[in-house]
Amino acid sequence: MEMFDAESDLSVTFFEMLARFRALSLLYQEIHWSNQGHHFYPDHLLAERLYNEVSDVIDAIAEKGIGVTQDRGFVLLSLQLPRVAEILDAYPHVGDTRTLFAGALAFENDLGAWLDEKFQTIKSAGVNDFLGQLADDGLQRVYLLTGRLSESPDGPEAQAVLSVARSIKSQLSSRG
Ligand SMILES: [Fe+2]
Repeated sequence: MEMFDAESDLSVTFFEMLARFRALSLLYQEIHWSNQGHHFYPDHLLAERLYNEVSDVIDAIAEKGIGVTQDRGFVLLSLQLPRVAEILDAYPHVGDTRTLFAGALAFENDLGAWLDEKFQTIKSAGVNDFLGQLADDGLQRVYLLTGRLSESPDGPEAQAVLSVARSIKSQLSSRG
């Protein structure tokens, strides 16, 4: 039986990092499945992209952490799941797609701040570089989310999509 070494700073850091990215991945998966409305298809694809990127990161965190700490205890689901649920509870995970994306952006910003704090305090070179890379990757996701949220649902892009849809509909109905 693997034991989680709660006395080791590195094991605790990898435990928390894994739980945060697992929670984030569940949130993106939820958005991928639940979104609807005039933004359905681009939102569906955006959430899928974010979900896939975070899933790759999760695997990298677990394997890096096992390598560095020689402790497999931090990955255990029985320890991880309660923490994942607790983290998710801090962000909206019910509501319309815009609310969920806004929650994901808040999550990413908090995660970025957390990674940055660990980056400043952890002195182990291999782990430090790894944290820096994760924080850097997160900026790309923040950029995508910010772009999505800056569009107003009543803005010109949404109006253009609606007017094309209306024109197609009227052409179809005039054909009888
Ligand atoms: Fe899918």
